[in-house]
Amino acid sequence: MAGVRLSKLLTFIRRYLLSVLFKQKPVKNTQHVPYSPQMHRVLKLSFPLRPAIFLLVPVAIALLAACTPDNNQSTFGTAGPVAKSQADLFVFIFWIAAIVFVLVEGAIIYIAIRYRQRSDSDKLPHQTHGNNKLEITWTILPVFILIIIAVPTLVGIWEQQNGVPDDQGEVLSVVATGHQWWFEFQYPDHEVVTANELHIPVNRPVAFKLESQDVIHSFWVPKIAGKVDMIPLNDNYMWMIGDEVGTFYGQCAEFCGIAHAHMRFRVIVDTEEDFQKWIAGMHTPAANPVAGSAEVRGQTGFLTNCSMCHTTNSTTPGSYARETDAQKARWDTWIEEEDPKQVSAPNLTHFGTRTTLAAGLQDLNQQSLEEWIDDPSALKIGTRMQKHAAVYDTADGTAKLTPAEVSDIATYLLSLKPSADAAAAAAASAGSDVDGETVFATNCSGCHSATADAGTGPGLAGVGDRAGSRVDGLSADEYIEQSLRDPGAYVVDGFSPIMPNWSGLGDESIDALVTYLKTLK
Ligand code: CUA
Repeated sequence: MAGVRLSKLLTFIRRYLLSVLFKQKPVKNTQHVPYSPQMHRVLKLSFPLRPAIFLLVPVAIALLAACTPDNNQSTFGTAGPVAKSQADLFVFIFWIAAIVFVLVEGAIIYIAIRYRQRSDSDKLPHQTHGNNKLEITWTILPVFILIIIAVPTLVGIWEQQNGVPDDQGEVLSVVATGHQWWFEFQYPDHEVVTANELHIPVNRPVAFKLESQDVIHSFWVPKIAGKVDMIPLNDNYMWMIGDEVGTFYGQCAEFCGIAHAHMRFRVIVDTEEDFQKWIAGMHTPAANPVAGSAEVRGQTGFLTNCSMCHTTNSTTPGSYARETDAQKARWDTWIEEEDPKQVSAPNLTHFGTRTTLAAGLQDLNQQSLEEWIDDPSALKIGTRMQKHAAVYDTADGTAKLTPAEVSDIATYLLSLKPSADAAAAAAASAGSDVDGETVFATNCSGCHSATADAGTGPGLAGVGDRAGSRVDGLSADEYIEQSLRDPGAYVVDGFSPIMPNWSGLGDESIDALVTYLKTLK
C-alpha cells in the first residue's frame, strides 16, 4: 500500500515539476507524449559544445597541475607515515570513485546518445517503471562499495585519533596554539617556547595538544599529517612523524579572519643531533651586543617600542613558566573581559635563527624585516600588531621610527642567536651544581627580599626556621618546595595569591633554591 502511495506521489511531483519547467499543463498520461515546442528548445543545446570542451581541457590541466607531489603543500608527496596512510586511503577511494564515475556517466552518455530525439516526429519511448532486479542491484552494490571504503577509513581514523602508538619510540610533546594570525609552539618537556617555526626530530613521534586563544584555527602540515582544528577552550590532539629531514610547509586551514590565508608556519624536521642542538640553543642566551653598535641601538629601540608584547630572552630557567603563565593570564582576561587589547605576540627568542617572517610569509632578511617593522600590513594584511602597538599610532599606520631606527631594530633582532661563548660556558658548567643564590637573584628577587623586608611577597630571612611549622606534616624542605611548585597551597597572611608556579625551573634549580633559602637569616 505504502509503495503504491509513494509512487503516486513521485509521479505527481514529476508532472508538477515538468509543468513548471515547461509552462504546460500537467500531463495525465505519460506514455507516448509528443515533445512540446518548449521542451524541444531546451533539449537543443544553444551553445556550441566542441569549443566548450576544448576550453575545458586547458582549465582542467591547470587545476590538475596543483596536484603535483612536488608542490610545497601537496598531500601527495608525503614525508611522514600519517600523511602517507591518508594519501594511500585517498588514492584507494579515488580509484573506486573513478570506476563508479566512468560506469555511471558512461551509461548516461550512452543512453542519451542512443535514445536521443532524431526527428520532430519522434515520440517519447515506452516509459517503464520499476525493475526489481536492477533496483536491488544498484542498492546492494553501493552498500558493498561503502563497506569496502569504510573499513580502511575507520582503521585509519582509530590509528590517528588514539594518540601515538606505543611502538613508535620516545614521544616529543608540543603544545601548538593558534592566534590571529600566527602559531605558537611550546615544548613542555624541554621548557622551550617559540613561534611559527616548529623544530621536530626526524623519525620520532610528536604528540600535539592543539589550542586556540581567540577564534577557531586549523593546524595542517600537508606533507606530514592531516589537519585538526584548534578550538578555544576545547583541546584537540593529533600526532605525526616526519620521516625526512627538511623544511615543510604548514598552513591554517580554517577561515579565521582577514589574514587567514597568511597564517602559515614551517615544520623543520631535524636530525636528532640537530634537534638537541636547537633545544640547547634555545636555553643559551644571545651574546651581549657590543657598546655603540647598531645592535645596542636596536635593542634600545626594541625595549622602548616592542618589548611590552614580544619577549626575546626566554632562555633562563623559569622563563618558560613565566611565559606560559603570562600567556594564560592574558587568555583568562580575554575570556572574562572580552578585551580586544589582550593580544599575545610571538616570542622572538633567537629570532635570528629563523628563516621566515610574518608567520611563514616571507624569507627573513634585513630588508624584509625592515619593511615589516615599518609597515606590517604592507606584507601581511590585517596584522594585529599594527592596531595595538603605540608605535603604529600614525595617520597612515606606518611606524613612528626613522629609517635608521627601523634598520637598527632589524639588525638587533637578526643578531639574536645562541651565543657560542655562552654555549661553551653552559657546556663547561653542565656537570657543576646550580647556584641557588643566582637562581634567587634571577627569578625571585623582583618580589622577595633576602631580608625580613616585605616586598610584593614576604621577606625571606628566617624562612628556613618557620617553614617547618607552617603546614602539619610538611618539613621545612617540603614546605618551601611546595611554595615553589604550588604557590596557592599556602599563602602567608596579608599577601595576595599572585605568585606564579615555578615548577618550570626544573628539579635541580628548585633543590638549589630550597637549600639557599634555608641559609637566609
Ligand atoms: Cu587561523 Cu585560518
